[in-house]
Amino acid sequence: VTDRSNVREQIDHYARQAAGYDRSIWTLGRRDNRNHLVKITKLARALRVEQGGHVLEVGTGTGVHGAWIVENCPVEYTGVDASVEMLKIARDRMEANAARVRLAVVDAHGMPFADGSFDATFCSGTLHHLNDPARGIAEMARVTKPGGRVAAMEPNWKFPSTLLIATFTPAERNAFKLNARRLAEWARAAGLRDVAVERVLFTPPKPEKWGARFDRIDARLANMPVLKRASIMLLVTGTK
Ligand SMILES: C[S@@+](CC[C@H](N)C(=O)[O-])C[C@H]1O[C@@H](n2cnc3c(N)ncnc32)[C@H](O)[C@@H]1O
Repeated sequence: VTDRSNVREQIDHYARQAAGYDRSIWTLGRRDNRNHLVKITKLARALRVEQGGHVLEVGTGTGVHGAWIVENCPVEYTGVDASVEMLKIARDRMEANAARVRLAVVDAHGMPFADGSFDATFCSGTLHHLNDPARGIAEMARVTKPGGRVAAMEPNWKFPSTLLIATFTPAERNAFKLNARRLAEWARAAGLRDVAVERVLFTPPKPEKWGARFDRIDARLANMPVLKRASIMLLVTGTK
């Protein structure tokens, strides 16, 4: 734990959240829904893990992303999180692939891994919980091998429900520190090259039968001036 870390607040917050996390109202009852699938498939593509490698996820939570990666890619997976309660759920979710999975309680502000330990590193919805999100990206870049890929998928406070959550939930307030420009700046300052920011998702996960229609709407809005600024998520990617 560094002196800039708010990890104790986050541990307490997620100890309370863990049991109901996968069925929260904000995910319309299921975390592993269509929007989750859009996020994890974009992350996997950005990380180039189809052929395998050792992947680190920072802020594994209940393991929805990690489970998809180990089920769909021939990777070794290390997942870290501040919350032991969240990781217990992740462990159960990934049990079928336990031989390729390692989970550990770690503070993302200062990870106990040597430089260049992983082929690819990602997070989803973790940087906005850190007091020092720039340090979070720097740590992700540090532990990635030269030539490896780094990707962070983060909520955008300009999307209405995120604005509400960030305003009224103390543990979510750091969401206001993030925007597209800053994510790109932090990624470059962390030593990443080929840095790109993508606007991801504008539509809800349900009804599922509208998935294809929502995909088309998402693709159009992502390129529309002004409107694109209100995406649900921001994805920053780069190469070490
Ligand atoms: C919004 S959840 C996202 C979980 C998962 N990636 C997902 O999309 O379902 C944020 C996660 O970050 C973890 N977290 C918060 N602060 C952290 C820190 N300083 N170090 C490591 N993990 C942290 C929380 O415990 C929580 O599991």
